[in-house]
Amino acid sequence: MKKATKCVHAGGIPDKYSGGVNSPIFTSSASDYLDKEEAPYPRYFNISNQAAVAKKLASLESGEEGIVFSSGMAALTSSLLAFLKTGDHVVFQDEIYGGSHAFIEEHFDRIGIRYSFVGNDISDFEAAILPETKVIYIETPTNPLLTIVDIRRVAKLAAKHDCLTFIDGTFATPINQKPLDLGVDVVVHSGTKYFGGHSDLCSGAVITRKSLAEKIRKTAVCYGGSLNALDCYLLERSLKTLALRVEKQTRNALEIARFLDNITDIKQVYYPGLKTHPGHAIAKNQMTGFGAMLSFEIGNPNITATDYMKNLKLVKPAVSLGGVETTICDPASTSHVKVSAEVRQRMGISDGLLRLSVGIEDAEDIKQDLIDALVSPF
Ligand SMILES: Cc1ncc(COP(=O)(O)O)c(C=O)c1O
Repeated sequence: MKKATKCVHAGGIPDKYSGGVNSPIFTSSASDYLDKEEAPYPRYFNISNQAAVAKKLASLESGEEGIVFSSGMAALTSSLLAFLKTGDHVVFQDEIYGGSHAFIEEHFDRIGIRYSFVGNDISDFEAAILPETKVIYIETPTNPLLTIVDIRRVAKLAAKHDCLTFIDGTFATPINQKPLDLGVDVVVHSGTKYFGGHSDLCSGAVITRKSLAEKIRKTAVCYGGSLNALDCYLLERSLKTLALRVEKQTRNALEIARFLDNITDIKQVYYPGLKTHPGHAIAKNQMTGFGAMLSFEIGNPNITATDYMKNLKLVKPAVSLGGVETTICDPASTSHVKVSAEVRQRMGISDGLLRLSVGIEDAEDIKQDLIDALVSPF
C-alpha cells in the first residue's frame, strides 16, 4: 500500500458487531483476566484502540511496532530512559525542541547519565562519542530553525560505535521522511502536532523494531504515559487524512517560503525547500517533501515580532503546530522558553524569530495576511 492508502486502511479494529467502517471504541479499564496471558489495561499499552492506531503508525513508518503515548514528551522520556542507566553517555544534537533540551539538562545530571550537546555536522557527533555512549539523538528538520542533519550518516556512525540512533521526526512526519528506512533505530513523534492535526489532542508515539519496542513498553508501563481509548480513536481518525493534510501543507509552505524570501522587510527565511538553505541538498536526498514549518525574521526595526503577530488577521498566534489552521509564534517565549537565553543564542534562536506552521487554507489568503501585517505602528 502507498502512504495515502495506509493512512486510511492500515491498523484499525474490525467492527464485528455492526459491520461499520470505523473502529469501535473500547473504553473498559477493567477486563476479564482469567485464561489470558495479560488482561487489557490502558497503562499496559495493550488495549485494542491503542493497538489500532499503533499499527497504522508502524505501517506508515515501515517499522515493526508502534506504541502510542499521552504526549510527545511521554514518548520521548520513556523510550530514552528504557535504554539508559547511571554512567551511560548520550550525544544530543544541541538544536532540538526546547522541552527535550530542558528534560536532559534538568534530569540527566541527577540520574548520573552524562551527555554532550553538539552541532549539526557529522564531525560534531563523531568527536563527542565516548566508550560509554549508548545513544545518538537527533531532530531533523529542527524546531524552530529547520536545520537538516544527514540521517544516513549519523545512523551509520552510531551503528559503527554500537549505539542506537533516536530521531524526533515530528516536523517531517512519515509523509515527508522515513527515518527507519535510512538506518535509524527509534523514531519518536509528538502526535499533538501533525498526527492529531486539528489542534485538539495531546499524544505521542514511538515506532521501532520488536526487540526495542518490548524494552520501551516495559519502561513506559512504569512511567504511565499511556493514551486513553477515546483519544486513541480521535488520533486514528485524524491519521486517515494525514497524507492529504501534510501534502497540501507542504505545498503551501514552499509557496509561502518563496514569497517571503522576496519581501524586503523580511530579513531571513529558514525553509529547507529554498535552494539557498544550507541543508537543501541533504533534505532533497532524505525527504520526499520539505515539510510545512518555516521560520523568518523581520528586517524592519520599526516592526517588532509581537506587533507583527497582533497585526495578523487570518494567521493565529498560538503555541504548538501542525494543525489545519496556519499559526505563528516566537520560539523564544514559547517552544524554547525553558531554554536559557545563552543556549538560545548558541542555537541561533533570536528574540525576533517567528515560526510559522502552515495550514491547509488557500496559500493566496495566507500570503495576503502575512504581507498586510507588515505595517509599522509609526
Ligand atoms: C519537535 C517536538 N518534539 C517533541 C515535542 C513534545 O511534544 P508534546 O507537547 O506532545 O509532549 C514538541 C512539542 O512542541 C516538538 O515540537
